[in-house]
Amino acid sequence: ASEPLVLGIETSCDETGIGIVRGRTLLSNTIASSMDEHARFGGVVPEVAARAHLEALQPSIEAALAESGVTLADLDAVAVTSGPGLAGALMVGVGAAKALAVGLGTPLYAVNHLVGHIAADILDEGAEPLEYPTVALLVSGGHTSLLLVRDLTTDVELLGETVDDAAGEAFDKVARILGLPYPGGPQIDAAAASGDPAAIRFPRGLSRASDMDRHRYDFSFSGLKTAVARYVEQTPDASAPDVAASFRESVVDVLVTKALDACARYGVPRLLLGGGVIANRRLREVALERGAAAGVTVRIPPLSLCTDNGAMIAALASELIMSGRRPSTLSFGADSTLPV
Ligand code: KG4
Ligand code: ZN
Repeated sequence: ASEPLVLGIETSCDETGIGIVRGRTLLSNTIASSMDEHARFGGVVPEVAARAHLEALQPSIEAALAESGVTLADLDAVAVTSGPGLAGALMVGVGAAKALAVGLGTPLYAVNHLVGHIAADILDEGAEPLEYPTVALLVSGGHTSLLLVRDLTTDVELLGETVDDAAGEAFDKVARILGLPYPGGPQIDAAAASGDPAAIRFPRGLSRASDMDRHRYDFSFSGLKTAVARYVEQTPDASAPDVAASFRESVVDVLVTKALDACARYGVPRLLLGGGVIANRRLREVALERGAAAGVTVRIPPLSLCTDNGAMIAALASELIMSGRRPSTLSFGADSTLPV
């Protein structure tokens, strides 16, 4: 099919995402999140997420089909995230995708979650088509990765990633230190609005000259989190807005500095942002400002495509199909550490 009709299943973390695309056109993108169930734990609980996927899958698939006005029999292919992500959560999606593909007799495509995030951009209707090469910065509660994309279907290189916490995880942990509810990202963002980003100089992880050989494009946020905890402990009259703004500034500074450094080093005037942390107002602002100053065009797809979703998984499979890629064999499994 020149414009394949693909259903994508995403269950790598706490979102059950079902998306349907035809070629590069988005038909539906339903997302059921178990975030509320994790709130009292202050972070995603893998077993709880896996069970929630199991419950949400069937109704989500039905909702996506209804919304896009297609039936299962119309599908040309099924796509699923096989990794990276939470092992149990991935397994539920992979099992469902295999059952669906076998039952329908359609090809099945196992795809990489991070590359899926990049493919999300294709579905951004208003935008010019994505050009390559591009640098991509993916920041969420589960990952923080910097990639060089020379070709979406054949050549995606991981330049670096977090060596400890993901950026969103750092926001969630610091929110907890400040007594703010989960998820912490939006809470910190709001608190920071009335704070002074220069009030406290928090560390910039892996940014020293001595880090540049081995960790130039890697990230670390656990030292920052510890520094915030220590500051709050030692400063009884600490201003929460100042702490939030200064913490946010450190995260944003490191993310944007490393991403633009990669653009400069590889001579790539394009930066694509993805992942739920892209909702952060300061991150968008600094990326756009410093990108413009460096001659780098910064692309930020709509948030509904940036957070984990099934449409991006279907979009990637659709690209693979249109480029002539053969389907996956049924022998693949969930791979929590799947490389790009
Ligand atoms: O991509 P996403 O929706 O899903 C998972 O990672 O599962 O990202 C969620 C993460 C959470 O850690 C949340 O705190 C963070 O994104 N986040 C933010 C903001 N909105 C959500 N972080 C910083 N600023 C925000 N405005
Ligand atoms: Zn993700």
